Amino acid sequence: LPPGLQRRVDCYLGEYLSQKSRSMEGFWDISRSNSSCSIATDEGLFEQPEPMPQSKAAMENIIWKRSLQMRSQQQVWQESSEGRKLLEFRRSLPAYKEKEALLMAISQNQVVIVSGETGCGKTTQIPQFILESEIESVRGAQCSIICTQPRRISAMSVSERVATERGEKLGEMVGYKVRLEGMKGRDTHLLFCTTGILLRRLLVDRNLKGITHVIVDEIHERGMNEDFLLIVLKDLLPRRPELRLILMSATLDAELFSSYFGGAPTVHIPGFTYPVQTHFLENILEMTGYRLTPYNQIDDYGQEKMWKMNKQAPRKRKSQIVSAVEEALRAADLKDFSPDTQDSLSCWNPDCIGFNLIEYLLCNICEKEKPGAVLVFMTGWDDISSLKDKLLAHPILGDSGRVLLLACHGSMASEEQRLIFDEPEDGVRKIVLATNIAETSITINDVVFVIDCGKAKETSYDALNNTPCLLPSWISKVSAQQRRGRAGRVRPGECYHLYPKCVYDAFADYQLPEILRTPLQSLCLQIKSLKLGSISEFLSRALQSPELLAVQNAIEYLKIIGALDENENLTVLGRYMTMLPMDPKLGKMLILGAVFNCLDPVLTVVTGLSVRDPFLTPMDKKDLAEAAKAQFSRDYSDHLALVRAYEGWKEAERDLAGYEYCWKNFLSAQSMKAIDALRREFYSSLKDTGLVDSNNATCNAWSYDEHLIRAVICYGLYPGICSVVHNEKSFSLKTMEDGQVLLYSNSINARESKIPYPWLVFNEKIKVNSVFLRDSTAVSDSVLLLFGGSISRGDTDGHLKMLGGYLEFFMKPALAEMYQSLRRELDDLIQNK
Ligand code: CDP
Ligand code: MG
Repeated sequence: LPPGLQRRVDCYLGEYLSQKSRSMEGFWDISRSNSSCSIATDEGLFEQPEPMPQSKAAMENIIWKRSLQMRSQQQVWQESSEGRKLLEFRRSLPAYKEKEALLMAISQNQVVIVSGETGCGKTTQIPQFILESEIESVRGAQCSIICTQPRRISAMSVSERVATERGEKLGEMVGYKVRLEGMKGRDTHLLFCTTGILLRRLLVDRNLKGITHVIVDEIHERGMNEDFLLIVLKDLLPRRPELRLILMSATLDAELFSSYFGGAPTVHIPGFTYPVQTHFLENILEMTGYRLTPYNQIDDYGQEKMWKMNKQAPRKRKSQIVSAVEEALRAADLKDFSPDTQDSLSCWNPDCIGFNLIEYLLCNICEKEKPGAVLVFMTGWDDISSLKDKLLAHPILGDSGRVLLLACHGSMASEEQRLIFDEPEDGVRKIVLATNIAETSITINDVVFVIDCGKAKETSYDALNNTPCLLPSWISKVSAQQRRGRAGRVRPGECYHLYPKCVYDAFADYQLPEILRTPLQSLCLQIKSLKLGSISEFLSRALQSPELLAVQNAIEYLKIIGALDENENLTVLGRYMTMLPMDPKLGKMLILGAVFNCLDPVLTVVTGLSVRDPFLTPMDKKDLAEAAKAQFSRDYSDHLALVRAYEGWKEAERDLAGYEYCWKNFLSAQSMKAIDALRREFYSSLKDTGLVDSNNATCNAWSYDEHLIRAVICYGLYPGICSVVHNEKSFSLKTMEDGQVLLYSNSINARESKIPYPWLVFNEKIKVNSVFLRDSTAVSDSVLLLFGGSISRGDTDGHLKMLGGYLEFFMKPALAEMYQSLRRELDDLIQNK
């Protein structure tokens, strides 16, 4: 190779030369064999027909030629009739008017923030503006743009749209990459990917070699990954002065980001929407002709409670009103809207408020209203699928000649995605049931009606029990406005909020950033796996830093479960945990399940802990429900009861009797389906770690040893343990931190008068007046001794110390002795190594 040409060259046939160049840095890895050379991107090898260039000039010549080629290709398309039509559409978008200002700002500043209403063309146009201007100025072959999306479905749908607008197939100049899937090639210069993918790339490529522009989209959502990415990028900017960073937000709070990046300029895209008529629940109920009683009653009730609460804890007021209204809605749903709801499982489920109301509204729109698509915001995949089932059974809404019923959520198939954006045939009404993904991430053009259930699934964190939960909770005012705005894109629209105005008034203005409301354990693991130094120092540089205490808690916890060693370094176990996209302790349980070849039931336990409790306890049928749950119990374990319930359901599903089975056994069919789907997802992540190989049948190993599962559960849930103290008639429970604790009434162990095991392990404890344990599993001394703590190397000592503390605390002298000798042995072992 001629001197001065700096780039990395990997030779097949032995010899490695490693040099870098500014322009070519990591852009291609060029491999040379005797006769030809091939170019490797991080996606694989591509044969390069021309021989290897012999000089810098020759290399530049290739880039130049390729850039010219790109330019003429672009011109040909833009002059074709199809291309002109699309260009015209693009020019009609508000973003187009700001094109020059945007490009100017980007060329003059390393960081630019762009804000503009949903649908104005941020995601589809801005990356294209950059690409086109690079191509125009014959730098096309050198530019490499990455645009991150919080969700995989938007990365996929947006890349497809952009490819279409450029008259190309996906995977040519425009590509996408999400976990387990992707379309990109050697000529991909604009890549849409999930934020997680970019973070993973940073793992192996700290300087983002060869990338010229990074665009972080949807920053207003303040997701954990995005906030995390911003800290990493902020560190990277001084090392890569030529790198451009563009942040895009659908709301106007650009100030925060601007000041975080040292006063980076902001470009606002003024938007335009048609007026949207807003109906709150009270108006909707009036429309239906139903009496307003439940709501009125509750209003009084709410008022009274509010007044009481006001004196003691004014901060509680809002949630008090909200839950009172929630109760009323449930009552209204049950009594007022359809007599047959009594028989429907959904009526027990507080998150299914308004299924009947939604059906009523949809029917009304289909029969009486002007044309236009309907967008229904639901909380998640589970309630979307049950609402869809319900609507499909309806004479009008289920008639495919009149209604095109579609679902839109994070884990949908790509075929289905496309239908969402297409206009239906004349006379057919498109109804899209969506999660909050349709709030800002994707835009469905022809929406005129919006129905908003007012909730979204949100991860939340209870510092007390250190457990993340993904539960539906009320949205913020900003989200409600975004949802409403979806109705006014093409002409004046209507929005139905399925909650009263007073609930809307009680909404928070903005949603709290995820980093401040979720447990930090996974994030801490990620910081460690990216080798970003001290966790607390790193997080102190966040846009909004989490509390130091929360950070310390997370680190301490990670040490206890064996993910980090005493010096805050990742252990082997911890490294595996970082590869699993779930709560670390659940990941840990899964890892051991794989190691011990009892993955099938463990997968059920782990997914069961990640979805809403499938065991339903309707108020009026409490005894029946508890008795139904008890049938699944033989071994003092709620977790094993779930495994049995799931297996029974799976069996019934095969005979298409899943619903009856759930109905009979007081189980939520939605949760069962969610468990089923999540099991597959978790299994495929586990396959990625290499702990199970893809052809192995562990996943379907139906026979297993219950004691082994108990041990694996203990391994995952430790240090959530409490001791069982028996007295004459019953037993009491104690933990080290809380003293006496109680069991939730629907726990299987709460029905027992005696538990023939000395310990219970639990996932979650909740403090009301006393501390309550949710699901628990009884374990023996030996299981705790061997599985309580971590069996990974290096941190054994710390764990045993803690376990020893437990044993001494609960005065188990024989066990403590056994433990002491085990510890001595291990000490020796460690010393000798
Ligand atoms: O990112 P932002 O919300 O600002 O808008 P966008 O996603 O870039 O979408 C701009 C426009 O492109 C939308 O208003 C849609 O009309 C159109 N679009 C489309 O027709 N099909 C898609 N898959 C995506 C966008
Ligand atoms: Mg967008």
